Amino acid sequence: MKRTLLLIGCLALAATQAQGQAPPAGKLFPDLARTPPMGWNSWNKFGCDVSEKLIRETADAMVATGMRDAGYTYVNIDDCWHGQRDSLGFIHPDAQRFPSGMKALADYIHSKGLKMGVYSDAGWKTCGGKPGSHGYEFRDALTYASWGVDYLKYDWCNTDGLAAKGAYMTMGEAIRAAGRPVVFSMCEWGTAKPWEWAKGIGNLWRTTGDITACFDCIVDHGTWKSWGAMQILDMQQGLRSFAGPGHWNDPDMLEVGNGMTTNEDRAHFSMWSMLAAPLIAGNDLRAMPPEVRAILTNREVIAVNQDSLGVQALRHSAADSVEVWFKPLAGGDWAMAVLNRARSPRHVAFDWKQETVADSVSGRSATFAATAYRLRDLWTGRDAGTTARPLAADVPAHDVLMLRLRARPGA
Ligand code: GLA
Repeated sequence: MKRTLLLIGCLALAATQAQGQAPPAGKLFPDLARTPPMGWNSWNKFGCDVSEKLIRETADAMVATGMRDAGYTYVNIDDCWHGQRDSLGFIHPDAQRFPSGMKALADYIHSKGLKMGVYSDAGWKTCGGKPGSHGYEFRDALTYASWGVDYLKYDWCNTDGLAAKGAYMTMGEAIRAAGRPVVFSMCEWGTAKPWEWAKGIGNLWRTTGDITACFDCIVDHGTWKSWGAMQILDMQQGLRSFAGPGHWNDPDMLEVGNGMTTNEDRAHFSMWSMLAAPLIAGNDLRAMPPEVRAILTNREVIAVNQDSLGVQALRHSAADSVEVWFKPLAGGDWAMAVLNRARSPRHVAFDWKQETVADSVSGRSATFAATAYRLRDLWTGRDAGTTARPLAADVPAHDVLMLRLRARPGA
């Protein structure tokens, strides 16, 4: 009993020490996720095979590969880190996989200038069959705070009879009560349209079921399906007005480096950047080929994703498997992506002077007949002329041309 009281005391103290001021009920920590969160998550590559060794090595690799310096911050442990609850209901990590404990792991991650995330589930069990947080929300949030957790992904398996909004509100309140600023990532798969109610409850919400490492396909698992990058892209239609600083649509984590071609990886990364999607890498950072690293650390593309205006791209046109997207950026610039979804190359002609982009979300518009922009090709890293002359480009199969349009006097 004495030991237990001591444990509770330590949890409370550690949690209190870790924080500043918790926001009032119904409000999020104001400084979190002002731009889409960037980091890494274990699920897409490693599934349930997580351990402190993998997480430490990944944190090391985040630094060594330049990912951290490119903006990736969160090292997130997905499903299956859990051991059992103790007699008071407090959760403990799997002692075989995490023998040093979660506090030591968080300390290590923090010592690298990174932040740590964990995963739980609003139901009785996680998707991987581990203990869920239902009924234990406040204990779990306090425990995470005492470990030094900075990010919680909260899943939606085994929730029969629960209402999504209430379940996510409860965990949101628990996080705030624990007091440590934690990015709250809601993984409800879009079933109850979280974009309509989740702002103010979480910092990001999944809009779809799970992604799979495929550019354009659907994988049928019997009771559920996973989706290729293009299928997920199409499911984002109509959602852009719901996202903004502190509250983001989440079209799921990245599959860059997990088996698609380099062209496909580039197109996937470009479109997630255009969507202002969280950039959560899902590959093995310890064994990353140079071309994968070059995609994930392209700073000019990341700058489009992280732009402070926080407005998702709009689809300007779609014809013959080619889509043209525009994203308004702070200060008057635009990003443009020309996406070739076909299995063969496409020649693209875009006569600027015939085109006007009008964005009802940001209220911004561009009339290229009236204003010229300088062009920067974000994948070659070269200047690419201006909008004074029509754009003509060959875009390879399943690839993208991504430009930044710079609005400068004299362009
Ligand atoms: C669900 C989520 C995935 C992953 C797994 C873990 O499928 O959508 O992103 O977290 O659970 O079991």
